[in-house]
Amino acid sequence: MVPTMTSKTGLTLPAVGFGTYQLNGERGVTAIVEALSNGYRLLDSAFRYENEGAVGRAVRQSDVDRAEVIVTSKLPGSRHRYDEALDAVTESVDRTGLDQLDLYLIHWPNPNVGLYLQAWRALIAARDRGLVRAIGVCNFLPEHLIRLEQETGELPAVNQIELHPYFPQADALAFHREKGILTEAWSPLGRGTDLLGEPVIGEIARVHGVSAAQAVLGWHVARGSIPLPKAATPARQRENLQIFDVGLSDEEIARISALGRPDGRLAGQDPAGYEEF
Ligand SMILES: NC(=O)c1ccc[n+]([C@@H]2O[C@H](COP(=O)([O-])OP(=O)(O)OC[C@H]3O[C@@H](n4cnc5c(N)ncnc54)[C@H](OP(=O)(O)O)[C@@H]3O)[C@@H](O)[C@H]2O)c1
Repeated sequence: MVPTMTSKTGLTLPAVGFGTYQLNGERGVTAIVEALSNGYRLLDSAFRYENEGAVGRAVRQSDVDRAEVIVTSKLPGSRHRYDEALDAVTESVDRTGLDQLDLYLIHWPNPNVGLYLQAWRALIAARDRGLVRAIGVCNFLPEHLIRLEQETGELPAVNQIELHPYFPQADALAFHREKGILTEAWSPLGRGTDLLGEPVIGEIARVHGVSAAQAVLGWHVARGSIPLPKAATPARQRENLQIFDVGLSDEEIARISALGRPDGRLAGQDPAGYEEF
């Protein structure tokens, strides 16, 4: 049984989700249908992944009740202007073939362009019109979140950020907790880097009789972030759900967090300057 977490805005999410980046076309549909049948109820897509259609088709094909699934997509940086953002949300919903999306996020703040406030107002309107059930952001720094709150009185339900042992983001996690924002972790397994081969993770995994991936996902669970591992095969999908009884000690959590480094971002994508359209 997957536990849940609830934001201050009242959105309840499963404590683990399924990343769908690079799961496209027929192969993507098959993998996502399998993920649903394996027990995932939170799907993470984006306009930019070009797989909203595959995600929607998988949800429609699956035996799982639609009402149980949280389908997420994201607004690209090229559509931050208010009207264009609203159109983009409508187009995302249409591509999925579903009546409504459950969660819609601004993908990057692009602060140097400076239009994320317009995008946020458009997401508020999209939610109020019923296109999406809940709204949030990705890659927002505390200063961006504070600006949303000050200008609109509304904080996101979710901030999805890069978070893994090489980049543990303790300050962001604490800030989100204080504000009642749920933290989703992207690239939670370090996206194919050497992370899962780190000796300290292997050692801790052996002590608990779990795999390296499960030890890392157990670290996420213990720290209160919602990991979104992507896995193409059913075996790994199932493995990545068995993470709620790992039971890491505080000392083990600290040893894994000690892998963190200031430049630990996988691709140097610091939201203060990085821009994505
Ligand atoms: N908001 C953003 O800006 C942003 C940015 C990046 C990613 N994301 C989201 O976050 C999701 C996850 O991030 P990610 O795809 O970059 O990386 P990830 O989930 O950290 O890593 C995925 C890699 O780990 C492998 N893997 C999965 N389970 C494993 C296991 N149990 N043992 C060993 N290897 C395993 C996968 O292999 P196989 O697939 O071959 O099994 C794949 O190569 C994305 O799919 C996307 O939804 C969001």
